[in-house]
Amino acid sequence: MIDVNKIRKDFPILRKKVNGQNLIYFDNAATSQKPSKVINSISEYYFNYNANIHRGVHFLSQEATDQYELSRKKIQKHFNISKLNEIIFTSGTTHGINIVASGYSSILRKGDEIIVSALEHHSNIVPWQMLCERTGSVLRVIPIKMEGSLDINAFHKILNGKTKLVVVNHVSNALGLINPIKDIIDMAHKFGSKVLIDGAQSAAHFKTDIQLLDIDFYVTSAHKLCGPTGVGFLYGKELLLNEIPPFQGGGEMISDVTFQKTTYADLPHKFEAGTPNISGGIAFGFALDYLNEIGLENIANYENELLKYCTNKLNEIDDIEIYGNSKNKIAVISFNVKGIHAYDIGSILDKLGIAVRTGQHCAQPIMDFYQIPGTVRVSFSFYNTKKEIDIFILGLEKAIKMLR
Ligand code: ALA
Repeated sequence: MIDVNKIRKDFPILRKKVNGQNLIYFDNAATSQKPSKVINSISEYYFNYNANIHRGVHFLSQEATDQYELSRKKIQKHFNISKLNEIIFTSGTTHGINIVASGYSSILRKGDEIIVSALEHHSNIVPWQMLCERTGSVLRVIPIKMEGSLDINAFHKILNGKTKLVVVNHVSNALGLINPIKDIIDMAHKFGSKVLIDGAQSAAHFKTDIQLLDIDFYVTSAHKLCGPTGVGFLYGKELLLNEIPPFQGGGEMISDVTFQKTTYADLPHKFEAGTPNISGGIAFGFALDYLNEIGLENIANYENELLKYCTNKLNEIDDIEIYGNSKNKIAVISFNVKGIHAYDIGSILDKLGIAVRTGQHCAQPIMDFYQIPGTVRVSFSFYNTKKEIDIFILGLEKAIKMLR
């Protein structure tokens, strides 16, 4: 069970007024709000133990290193990862995807194939297109059905012995649909392909067991799960991370440097060149602590209630079209009102203090599929309430009247 009134007190920003109204924040898929525990962990680092990590013999450096490495352990436990050195701190999901895409330049040959899904965010499309351009590999696409879910039969047909990588999100950012990644991984493995899962939109909403799912590469961002921006992690099976070259050269990622030859550090440092986002990495661990105190199962159940409540209310309004109607989804609703541009609705809602996202949501192929310029997207978190949904629905009805 969730005590939402108690939880809301943990988020200082929820006391903010926007345009004279209480802020209603329904843009959680873009970024989540942060509890005091996470915000305080960042100032605590700068106030009390700011130092570079992995480098100093001195007390402060050791303290900062211990806290940073403690976060790596928290990630290991939360996502059930076998070895600590399989966790690479990144600046976020996009960085993690680019490490793998860059590394596969030395593995892929002309004619090899990469499969992406039509539900991907641009960050899980463009790096693979760039990889194909570099290597002469071919990009294949799993199509979607009208209700937004992946066409798994079509996936079976395009999967073949030339497939080297399948890359798919766990949850679509634009529609909120949960993809059947276990089936996708098992099927891809039968053909000897590796699988990268983009967990940017799922990790805040339900637990992911990386070993149980037998995921080869996994990426996510802390800021989607109550942590800070500019930090995330890449997981890769040790054997696979050892197969790919470093993404960036620099300090920390080396074993031995001479002008004749440089050798690289062992995992995870091989992929962690330069001073990282130390306070961010530490705060990432505090964000995981916070979510685990509430419980991911409680979060999923409560958010599902919000999803049903809002979907029913939206369906009572004339001329609403919701995209992505498959049952298996998180609390994200992407919709349009016939004859009205999404941007206009978003702007009026903003005047009422309600934050939603409008547009293509960095997923143009989905918008092209539905032949629309964009949608209004509301995305909920466990600190949102049914009362906020009621206010949003009134605001939406007002916007429709004004724009008609
Ligand atoms: N990927 C983020 C979103 O879906 C920014 O809004």
